[in-house]
Amino acid sequence: MKIRNKILLAVGVVVLGLLYWVFGIPMVGNPAIATDAATIARGEYIYHAGGCGACHQLEGADGPSGGYEIESPFGGTFRVPNITPDIATGIGGWTGKDFLLALKHGRSPGGGFYWPAFPYRTYKNMSDAEVLDLAAYLQAIPALSNEVADHDLPAWQFSWMMAGWNILAGILEGTPPAVGDDPQIQRGAYLARALGHCGECHTPRNSLGMMQLTNEFAGSEAISPEISPAELSGWTEEDFVGLLQLGMTANFDFVGGEMEDVIKHTSLLTEEDQNAYAAFFTRVTDATAPTPVE
Ligand code: HEC
Ligand code: HEC
Repeated sequence: MKIRNKILLAVGVVVLGLLYWVFGIPMVGNPAIATDAATIARGEYIYHAGGCGACHQLEGADGPSGGYEIESPFGGTFRVPNITPDIATGIGGWTGKDFLLALKHGRSPGGGFYWPAFPYRTYKNMSDAEVLDLAAYLQAIPALSNEVADHDLPAWQFSWMMAGWNILAGILEGTPPAVGDDPQIQRGAYLARALGHCGECHTPRNSLGMMQLTNEFAGSEAISPEISPAELSGWTEEDFVGLLQLGMTANFDFVGGEMEDVIKHTSLLTEEDQNAYAAFFTRVTDATAPTPVE
């Protein structure tokens, strides 16, 4: 082989490798989705802990049949899809692999890219076992037929752009402050960071819309207030549990807006999990206090 051909071949291999890295479908297994009552019940709990209904289930709907609209900060409107097991208009027939790819990688069964209006950057922190429990629940609920129209987005926005966005987000989001080894605080951190997606609204974002995890819960100007442990230092753990159960703050105000939908789900959690949330958010330790970035 001539040296020029060798170089071309090498370049070709590198380019293909890069394309595969950027667009390739992540390797996940394809575990079976269980159908037993215990798994389905665990999945229902995770559905609430993950606040899925806040976006997928409209007020008055019998299930997560979609239709809710979310304004995009970059222009246009997202329409939340039907995630009941209806074959024609929902996600009937989804496999374990499909659920793992969607919730943990933001990828559709066909290999396409979801928009981060679907909080997969948070749900990627869920354990595979919990994603599969959730899958069991979502495949067991009644199928509801509801055709949701496509997103209405400006013409320059293509979902494949999320290929690069996901890689950049992995680098630019940073890592959230470490939590100490208290198991209750760790459970609270898991609930907030993998399921309750508190940071999707309460953590500031950069100009590309990526959460700035080093500044976790410092509030996001346009959307929601700061809820870092330092900010909540006046709150007792009981106050915080009261918020999760009733939507009442330490100043006896009731939260409104989108936070009301959050409370609909946190109020369904076990007391043990509500206490874990409270421990994580109010028990300020050196390890949990966020380090502000300049
Ligand atoms: C903040 C709103 C929001 C929350 C909370 C949310 N989703 Fe979604 N979800 C979306 C949006 C928007 C899309 C569409 C994304 C796209 O088309 O790119 C979506 C898409 C999906 C899809 C893909 C459906 C399809 O037809 O391809 C699944 C599955 C899904 N969500 C499941 C869940 C589960 C399970 C939870 C809870 C753990 C959840 N979602 C929580 C907004 C949300
Ligand atoms: C969809 C966006 C959204 C999500 C998700 C969200 N919040 Fe909120 N949160 C808000 C908004 C908006 C407010 C302000 C409500 C008001 O002023 O009435 C708020 C208010 C609060 C407050 C009151 C702060 C104060 O000083 O009064 C606390 C505490 C809080 N949220 C905690 C949480 C926790 C914990 C989670 C995760 C389980 C969470 N939030 C998830 C939007 C959100």
